[in-house]
Amino acid sequence: MKKLLALLLVAAMSISMVACGGSASSSAASSEAGSEAASSEAASSDVKIGVCIYQFADNFMTLYRNDIKADLEALGYKEGTNFTMVDGANDQAKQTEQIDSFIAEGVDVLIVNLVQSTSASTIIEKAKAADIPVVFINREPTAEDLALYDKCCYVGADARQSGTFQGEIIAATENKGDFNGNGTVDYAMIMGDPENVDAQYRTEYSIKALEDAGLKVNKLYEQRADWDQTKGQENAANVLSQFNDEVDVIFCNNDAMAMGALQAIEAAGRKVGEDIYLVGVDALEEAVQAVAAGRMTGTVLNDDVSQAQTAVDAAVRYLKGEANDKNYTIDYVKVTPENAADYIK
Ligand code: GAL
Repeated sequence: MKKLLALLLVAAMSISMVACGGSASSSAASSEAGSEAASSEAASSDVKIGVCIYQFADNFMTLYRNDIKADLEALGYKEGTNFTMVDGANDQAKQTEQIDSFIAEGVDVLIVNLVQSTSASTIIEKAKAADIPVVFINREPTAEDLALYDKCCYVGADARQSGTFQGEIIAATENKGDFNGNGTVDYAMIMGDPENVDAQYRTEYSIKALEDAGLKVNKLYEQRADWDQTKGQENAANVLSQFNDEVDVIFCNNDAMAMGALQAIEAAGRKVGEDIYLVGVDALEEAVQAVAAGRMTGTVLNDDVSQAQTAVDAAVRYLKGEANDKNYTIDYVKVTPENAADYIK
């Protein structure tokens, strides 16, 4: 019965491969190479891929995990049979248990979005002992950790770039981020989980970009809101009630928090672009719409589609017994009212 299924799968795959044979773009070429590997793997053996996500409830990671699922399915892998995705529920102990179970089950490769980047070395040692390759995504292990095992790599983006882009978006505004005309950009910073380099670098580099543009800055407020919309809204409401017209800019480390901040800004009767600026990161659909409508100053595309595809390609290379580079870095892109229409999905 299993053999028959495998044969049917091979037949279906070759039909679909013939069907896509006509497309000739370079990305199609790379995913074709991937799908070839995967189809033979999926057909000839019981490939098992474990995918660990730090928290299903995270807006950006929801897009990202849906992309991974779609990419794996496009290669002929089936959820429940060839791959399983688990929710770490923002709890490292829970995620470590999930990884232990995947290892005990004998998965062929792991794709891991850590809850805590500092747990990377523990996870790497476990995977190494079981000879299971690991593709880390989104939360970056240190170079030292990655060097512990030849079969692990990281797919992500350089968070410094996203912070720099946020600062540059503000520096490029007509009044250079200074509504109250006091010669200083008075700002509030709403941070993601500070354990995460994305939060650290975005906080640092957004302000550095303002300073590099020759602007004076004044930090009025900085609090963590853990990438979460409701917490973003609560923090922005605090900022506005404490500092009112003094605030020129609200920087949010991601769009979920920026969407919360936007609710607070509008509830306080303030108007983005007229008496306050607001920037985020990710280019969530809702945020891009807000940028296009002038309700948000800008955002930065965190390219979930390319990151997911790159992560799946890396996993497939490990399945074929091939090596990967240590790091794959996907560029961020500035999204402002001028180009927002291009980023509406
Ligand atoms: C960031 C993203 C955030 C959040 C975080 C989780 O790259 O911008 O929205 O998803 O990853 O680690």
